[in-house]
Amino acid sequence: MYEPVANRYEAMTYHRSGRSGLRLPAVSLGLWHNFGGVDSFENAQKIVHRAFDRGITHFDLANNYGPPPGSAEESFGQMLSRDLGTYRDELVISTKAGYRMGPGPYGEGGSRKYLLASLDQSLRRMGLDYVDIFYSHCPDPDTPLEETMGALATAIRQGKAIYAGLSNYSPEQTRKACRILRDLGSPCVIHQPKYSMFERSMESELLETLKEEGLGCIPFSPLAQGMLTDRYLQGVPEDSRAAKPHGFLQREALSDQRLAQIRQLDELARSREQSLAQMALAWVLRDQRITSLLVGASSVEQLEQSLGCLKGREFTEGELAEIDKVLENPR
Ligand SMILES: NC(=O)c1ccc[n+]([C@@H]2O[C@H](COP(=O)([O-])OP(=O)(O)OC[C@H]3O[C@@H](n4cnc5c(N)ncnc54)[C@H](OP(=O)(O)O)[C@@H]3O)[C@@H](O)[C@H]2O)c1
Repeated sequence: MYEPVANRYEAMTYHRSGRSGLRLPAVSLGLWHNFGGVDSFENAQKIVHRAFDRGITHFDLANNYGPPPGSAEESFGQMLSRDLGTYRDELVISTKAGYRMGPGPYGEGGSRKYLLASLDQSLRRMGLDYVDIFYSHCPDPDTPLEETMGALATAIRQGKAIYAGLSNYSPEQTRKACRILRDLGSPCVIHQPKYSMFERSMESELLETLKEEGLGCIPFSPLAQGMLTDRYLQGVPEDSRAAKPHGFLQREALSDQRLAQIRQLDELARSREQSLAQMALAWVLRDQRITSLLVGASSVEQLEQSLGCLKGREFTEGELAEIDKVLENPR
């Protein structure tokens, strides 16, 4: 029987999500890869337990996480029913709907029909009465935004979700969605965009929009799916994401130019006495507007190493300029 360590809240910092009262750990755990039905349940459970022991209170899921789709929620549900559920009031569990989950016209998108049925399915898979955050996973240009946001507000009114969230929405879509949710009395508390040293598009407008709207920001794939680590410095390991057939991280992404950047960033990280993963995560957390980040892990060791980012979060102007230089113009 798992018993969490008593001092689990001591080393983590918690930040308020935008103007809401919800506080999230600086590092949160995402269950997109390595927690599905094809993965080792024991390994997945070890990672989740260690995360909770280290003060990670927030676990991020979606209806389609697996593979197969839905199985990450089932695995997490098993962990909750075995022992973790004892700590339900100390956990912030999120799920999402938007991308394709099932066959037919109600298996994807932003319709009220799909979102509310999907949330019910997620709750059943996890054995929960409610999730803490229910996200619209992506905008749906074919559904009125009022309908999609209305579904999030309904989920909150029904007590099936506590907070509403948006993911992959543009600044303009975010502003409109926030206005609708405010009018419905269910303010949006958080936005989940892609952000890392290799993917900086949210810096131009989205980050400031979130601040103005009072939303928290929780970037996903802060390690660029593993590229911003030492994982690919000596080739593509058999058990790595880039070697898997699903194609979310393709081998071609590891171009000569990319690998040159990774090597130079690795050197820079060493000069800061950090691993590349630690520096890449600390870099994401350097901005006060970031509430938390969603890291992934395939082992307890990776998670432990990543959490080391909490110790070296300061950057000098010179280091930031050096990173920009590597990203713009690798040697
Ligand atoms: N809203 C959305 O549309 C969306 C999209 C994508 C992700 N997300 C969320 O964001 C979460 C994180 O995404 P992600 O998994 O792509 O994040 P990531 O942190 O960029 O990548 C995680 C991968 O990096 C490798 N890794 C992690 N720590 C490492 C370390 N210390 N040393 C070496 N390698 C390390 C592992 O790869 P290996 O598996 O190869 O070992 C791990 O699976 C997801 O689980 C999900 O919750 C949301």
